[in-house]
Amino acid sequence: MIQPIKFENDVLLLIDQLKLPMQEVWVKIKTLEEGAKAIKDMIVRGAPAIGVTAAYTYALAFKNKPFSSDYANLVKETLNSTRPTAVNLFWAVSEMEKVAKFCKKNLYTTLLNHAKKIHADDITMNKKIGANALDLFPKKLKVLTHCNAGSLATGGYGTALGVIYSAFSKNLIEKVWVDETRPFLQGARLTAYELEKAGVPNTLICDNMSASLMAKGEIDLVVVGSDRIAKNGDVANKIGTYAVAVLAQYHKIPFYVAAPSSTIDFNIACGNDIPIEERAKSELGIFNGKQIVYDLDNIYNPGFDVTPNHLVSGIITEEKVHYYPYINSLKVCDS
Ligand code: MRU
Repeated sequence: MIQPIKFENDVLLLIDQLKLPMQEVWVKIKTLEEGAKAIKDMIVRGAPAIGVTAAYTYALAFKNKPFSSDYANLVKETLNSTRPTAVNLFWAVSEMEKVAKFCKKNLYTTLLNHAKKIHADDITMNKKIGANALDLFPKKLKVLTHCNAGSLATGGYGTALGVIYSAFSKNLIEKVWVDETRPFLQGARLTAYELEKAGVPNTLICDNMSASLMAKGEIDLVVVGSDRIAKNGDVANKIGTYAVAVLAQYHKIPFYVAAPSSTIDFNIACGNDIPIEERAKSELGIFNGKQIVYDLDNIYNPGFDVTPNHLVSGIITEEKVHYYPYINSLKVCDS
């Protein structure tokens, strides 16, 4: 399984997700600015992977610097301003800040060890999520997923794809339908590639094909990841997720969300309060370097949408599978 984030000899190594699947190129990160740019430019993407990258970058920012509140604020602001929706970023930065503030000696080594722990914990949580989902597979199922919530989007292994890898290891996956995930194509470029490498049977479809597949009985279960889950169980995830959830409910197909508890934002009461990133118009208007629309300005491109809690059959965390009403059930994840 691909490990998208490595730390070797004081260098953070990220697989360049903008170049996948045609090229596997590793980008070297040594500074705060390089780490923040890698997140902003989506060399690394996916909520938990962004969190792990932010943690290592936070440590690198203190490699040759003593602690000061002003500098710590600058580091925090630089990282927190990269992308607005995935809460794992803010969570990881705040965890690192707590360690920095209370550290008495060997600041860089202490921070680095904490970043390594956040990374290792993420993989452990992903594997628990996969194990907790096994009861949802009474037999071999045909599963649909949207975006990329795999090894590439996490510290390694994956959330939604972690569920699929875990079920596949028990011979419970007939096939995976992969939504291409317009406009950034995380499904086409990353999920299909990852599943292929892991030997999981999969077929790529356009986002607008899932309704007809559901109607034909070709999809038994949907599983997606999440960038931020509100206290009431409303789920922000890649744009298009809400449409899949509506379709799943209409066709009476279970729709599950897989995420570690670091994705739950207990400061946010409901989905309306989740900040949604608006991305460049060029993602829709330019294809292969060529303008393909008449008016490049007349484009709306939100990166995420919110699926209301009543459309979510269950939220799979490292603790357990949570069911509606989420406001009570998710409390066990509040640390
Ligand atoms: O814009 P991206 O590629 O960072 O968005 C990623 C997603 O929406 C994923 O589905 C989500 O982060 C879950 S990742 C385990």
